[in-house]
Amino acid sequence: MRLSPQLFRCKSVAAFTAAENRLKQTLTARDLIVLGVGAIIGAGIFVLTGIAAAKYAGPAIIVSFMLAGIACALAALCYSELAAMIPVSGSAYSYAYATLGELMAWIIGWDLVLEYALASSTVAIGWAGYLTSFLNSVGIHLPEFLTTAYLANPATGFINLPAALIILLLTGLLIVGIRQSASFNFVMVLIKLTVIIVFIIAGSGHIHSENWADFAPFGFSGVLTGAGVIFFAYIGFDAVSTAAQEAINPEKDVPLGIIASLLTCTLLYILVAAVLTGIVSYTQLNVPAPIALAVDFTGMFWLSPIIKLGAIAGLTSVMLVLLMGQSRIFYAMSKDKLLPPLFAQVHPKFQTPHLSTLLVGVAVALLAGFMPIEKLGELVSIGTLFAFVLVCGGVWVLRVSHPELPRHFKCPAVPYVPLAGILVCLGLMAGLPFDTWVRLFVWLLLGFVIYFGYGIKHSELH
Ligand code: ALA
Repeated sequence: MRLSPQLFRCKSVAAFTAAENRLKQTLTARDLIVLGVGAIIGAGIFVLTGIAAAKYAGPAIIVSFMLAGIACALAALCYSELAAMIPVSGSAYSYAYATLGELMAWIIGWDLVLEYALASSTVAIGWAGYLTSFLNSVGIHLPEFLTTAYLANPATGFINLPAALIILLLTGLLIVGIRQSASFNFVMVLIKLTVIIVFIIAGSGHIHSENWADFAPFGFSGVLTGAGVIFFAYIGFDAVSTAAQEAINPEKDVPLGIIASLLTCTLLYILVAAVLTGIVSYTQLNVPAPIALAVDFTGMFWLSPIIKLGAIAGLTSVMLVLLMGQSRIFYAMSKDKLLPPLFAQVHPKFQTPHLSTLLVGVAVALLAGFMPIEKLGELVSIGTLFAFVLVCGGVWVLRVSHPELPRHFKCPAVPYVPLAGILVCLGLMAGLPFDTWVRLFVWLLLGFVIYFGYGIKHSELH
């Protein structure tokens, strides 16, 4: 067997389209934007902003949000070119398989687990934080050993049961086929957006500018680390590309959905960060529900439960989209025989990849129950940034290697935009703690072991 051509063998776009069940094409540009916003706004803004401001950036978390927004905008332009060129499900994994070869596709697919599965655990922990806080405010107090992971607090914690249970519940729903319908998503997004906009408007009257006096207490490196951490808040715009098969006019609307949802969220995030750090001193923000804390600071106690319920509803839709995305990517990888066939098995009655969904759900629930949110969030950020680096690189490589392919959306100023995307994403990765890098390498190594031990031999293209 000649190894090198095998590693770079590509699956043709026609093969992708033929292998897909043609899904009903119903999604309009508006639906895609709503889908993006639905997947984006979640634990990043509702939870991690507080930790990132308190520990890394201070009020300059506002600048961190701008930096992370720029990194995402550059990656979004690259994603858009690939999504419009190869409108199939499986997202970056499929683009890589169609263009850069099997090994690269495997690396991206394996890396995307960090984005989709681990992000679901992180969001679940944020969800549990808001639930506990909401229950406290109505006089129900859950014992701390059932709401805190041992690794998050060895003194009082054991398992974060609400986080594990919500994942198992959503897994059950996904198995019986509750789909992220456009209208359900629309309602969730409306709730989220209302809560965020109400917070910005109501909170802006309670800003004390002295809270911004020590604007960047940890210097530029703190701002950079903060950007790497809250980068998590932007994850999800690429989920729009997973719906490309269901779009009426994917070539035009998928890029529009990706870019418009990202721009909307960037603007809202910067405003929320400014209001949050203006109301509460950053030193007090290291809490699981920082926005609710800020509302309490304003004395508008009536608003606090509404914010919490909004966050709970909003985070639920993020988990649903991410869990579904993960089982879909595993499904695609298993159909290509890079993963064992059980991941591609479809339930005879529910018509869903039930085993893939179940395995993903149980693993994600365990992580959500036993890991601290911060470590998970950082690993998600580094994994996603790495995927973005590969996607940006992919656009550039393809412009050189396949200039003839029709491109319905062209990323502007190639190679400068992809190059800038690669550099900014690498810069944000550099700001993340060393142990997060070690975890990324261990994860990728494990991926190589599985690919060379299994995928390379069983691959459909073998
Ligand atoms: N961006 C998503 C969130 O913040 C993953 O929850």
